[in-house]
Amino acid sequence: MHILIFGATSAIAHSIAKEYAIDNLHTYTLIGRSESRLNACKQELQAYGAVDIQIMLLDFSSIEDIQKVFNRCIQQRGNIDMALVAQGSLTNQDKAKSDMSYLADEFSLNALSHIIISQLIVNQFNLQGFGILVGIGSVAGERGRKGNYAYGAAKSAVSTFLSGLRHANKNEKIHILTVKPGFVSTPMTSELPQSFLFVSPELVAKEIKRGVEQGIEHMYVPTFWRFIMMIIRSIPEALFKKLNI
Ligand SMILES: NC(=O)c1ccc[n+]([C@@H]2O[C@H](COP(=O)([O-])OP(=O)(O)OC[C@H]3O[C@@H](n4cnc5c(N)ncnc54)[C@H](OP(=O)(O)O)[C@@H]3O)[C@@H](O)[C@H]2O)c1
Repeated sequence: MHILIFGATSAIAHSIAKEYAIDNLHTYTLIGRSESRLNACKQELQAYGAVDIQIMLLDFSSIEDIQKVFNRCIQQRGNIDMALVAQGSLTNQDKAKSDMSYLADEFSLNALSHIIISQLIVNQFNLQGFGILVGIGSVAGERGRKGNYAYGAAKSAVSTFLSGLRHANKNEKIHILTVKPGFVSTPMTSELPQSFLFVSPELVAKEIKRGVEQGIEHMYVPTFWRFIMMIIRSIPEALFKKLNI
């Protein structure tokens, strides 16, 4: 398989890449903003046995650059068997209340870059007739909370967009998987107080691999978040406003 990863330096994305590298069968295109961090990921994947790995640099804030890099990837690397979109930043909600360009930049990374890349990927899948897209949303996208509604709104946009892509898709050989992790111990959450709800990126990667293999279209990771979010979604707004969550 040719595996294309946007945000390839993400701890979750890198764990997924390692899960597949064990098979020793796949080629990788790793896309991100930092050459040194991408090279570190490349070296680790090589140590796992992966041979054909190319890195590409991208400015995720530029729509033009996203299209250019994507086109270059197709020209140089050919069809994509599986694509993973993983870039993201846990927006500082307090800062986003007063700094509008920060709010816009965060939304651009977490929502806009994700949905543009997803659309380009699915367009390519339609041309080639097959492909697997894995998009990483979040449980934070299910309901706006006072502590993280800027990040949550972006993740909600991603999830709605992926749901629409799935609805529009008529080809059974194209599989679009939305993953909604809860708390994962990665650099993104390193400043949050850790709790029993945190899981490792390796566990998330194994679950995503299972989701791909089983053709699942929408999954919470770990699964117990499905039940937590069912409860959170069902709380009436008048009561929700009073809760300190
Ligand atoms: N960790 C969690 O609890 C959790 C829960 C639900 C969903 N998610 C989602 O899972 C995905 C992966 O996150 P992670 O937990 O693996 O976090 P991570 O290890 O911190 O990775 C974040 C990724 O986003 C990239 N990134 C951050 N800010 C960027 C910017 N301004 N421009 C370009 N790239 C930028 C990072 O690139 P650099 O390496 O160059 O910084 C890195 O590749 C994200 O979409 C995140 O929203 C995470």
